[in-house]
Amino acid sequence: MSYDDLPMLDYGDRGVVTVAANAEGVANLAVQTFATALTTAWTNRGAAAIALSGGSTPKRMGELLAHSDFPVPEAWKHVDIFWGDERWVPLDNPESNAGIALKTFLTKVPIPIEKIHPVYEDDLDEAQGAALYQALIEEVVPAVDGVPSFDLIFLGMGDDGHTASLFPHTKGLEIRDRHVAPNYVEKLDTTRITFTTTLLNGARQVVFLVTGSGKAHRLQEVLEGPLETNRLPSQLVRPAHGSLYWLVDQGAASELSGGPFRE
Ligand code: 6PG
Repeated sequence: MSYDDLPMLDYGDRGVVTVAANAEGVANLAVQTFATALTTAWTNRGAAAIALSGGSTPKRMGELLAHSDFPVPEAWKHVDIFWGDERWVPLDNPESNAGIALKTFLTKVPIPIEKIHPVYEDDLDEAQGAALYQALIEEVVPAVDGVPSFDLIFLGMGDDGHTASLFPHTKGLEIRDRHVAPNYVEKLDTTRITFTTTLLNGARQVVFLVTGSGKAHRLQEVLEGPLETNRLPSQLVRPAHGSLYWLVDQGAASELSGGPFRE
């Protein structure tokens, strides 16, 4: 199954939506997206920088990548992997986005360990960790107009419309002068580390993975409703010079007026 055989909905600067039958279909498309972005960047500039999202949706993509022969083994040696957001916990904590990805696939593909860049550092606090991560990204990822430009950033969307750790009505939504920041999330009573909208919108390609009918109403609001970025932070993602795609399943697409997916 490839992109071409699936329904697509064009929402202009809010992105292009591809609708797969189910979550497995979304995971397969995500593997194709990852592999194509890595191979293209490696071919064009000899390196690639990809940021993964957290949450449960990308897990299946990781499991498939662990057993996929595309990207080719040689390509894995040329990609730097980062996380678009992270909980401030050690890798062995079940909450750790990096810890999950390492277990799911990064220890099963031929990527050099030094090219895997978890956020968490034992002896730092969130603010120090965010500053260090920002400095690492600025060193590794080539900039366009002063902003490190990832070849690909994967994002998820929460059922409240958050993305990365940019939650509704949080201070992190307003940060423009930094690329990575700590963001206190009152409803979770925790401080997360997150890419800012400035860094997200500097990417060559941003791809949301959204599945499940539980997110259908929010996705309809984000894509078709009025701009309310403080309530719907996913609407803040509009790459300045890159492309924006949504890989969704029919459940998540079921309230979109643009296609015959209404349940
Ligand atoms: C995180 C994520 C977060 C996630 C959404 C969707 O660290 O939790 O980065 O932004 O992508 O909450 O999560 P699910 O894929 O589990 O629905």
